[in-house]
Amino acid sequence: MRIAIIGTGNVGGTLARGLAGKGHAVTLGARNPEAPAVVELAAATGAARAAPAAAAGGAELVVLALPWGTAEAAVRALGDLSGRIVVDCMNPIGRTAAGLGLTLGHTTSGGETVAGWLPGARVVKTLNQVGAEIMADNAAMPHRPAMFMAGDDAAAKIAVGGVLADLGFQPVDAGGLVRSRLLEPLGMLWITQALLQGKGRNWAFAAVAQT
Ligand SMILES: NC(=O)c1ccc[n+]([C@@H]2O[C@H](COP(=O)([O-])OP(=O)(O)OC[C@H]3O[C@@H](n4cnc5c(N)ncnc54)[C@H](OP(=O)(O)O)[C@@H]3O)[C@@H](O)[C@H]2O)c1
Repeated sequence: MRIAIIGTGNVGGTLARGLAGKGHAVTLGARNPEAPAVVELAAATGAARAAPAAAAGGAELVVLALPWGTAEAAVRALGDLSGRIVVDCMNPIGRTAAGLGLTLGHTTSGGETVAGWLPGARVVKTLNQVGAEIMADNAAMPHRPAMFMAGDDAAAKIAVGGVLADLGFQPVDAGGLVRSRLLEPLGMLWITQALLQGKGRNWAFAAVAQT
């Protein structure tokens, strides 16, 4: 697929590396496509480089890998993405009364908020439930890590499921985009396990069943 990755930091960079050689045409959408780190990432992965709106404009699937605090303006500036598949990896994290945590939940979610910024886009929430490292380096895990996805468009979820499989995940359909309200706390659970409970970053959720 023609995939644009908007944001080339921990997540965007890892996804570009994880998708290299998997038959996709990847374009890095960076606010400074000439930045040395972006040039280096493109050279290492075979990805093209462009400004965010230009990258998204030519893509079938657009991955949003931006900090939540800057996301609204940056996502709205991508232009009309109606009909396009948009993968929202972002967790709506910010300062809360209880410290760093989710700033949205229960009655809405980041995924639904993103869909509101991009009328007509086929938004799929996923890739928010593990640390970036695991997104391109999970082949040695004893179980295939699970990756839940939430979205309202069945065909979009099939396409995204293929990309998740390319990254080594077992895609699990969580239902409609409203289920982002469950996936974002799951992302927060991963973060608190990794950072506060001493589990570290080299693990992921798995879905195992009796055969
Ligand atoms: N890190 C993880 O393990 C992880 C795991 C799952 C989900 N997530 C979620 O993924 C998202 C990205 O996290 P990250 O760790 O990859 O962040 P990061 O390393 O800080 O990278 C953010 C990227 O967004 C770009 N960016 C920031 N503002 C922008 C703007 N206005 N326009 C265009 N590009 C902009 C930055 O560009 P510059 O290089 O120009 O600053 C950078 O490339 C977050 O929402 C996070 O919650 C993170």
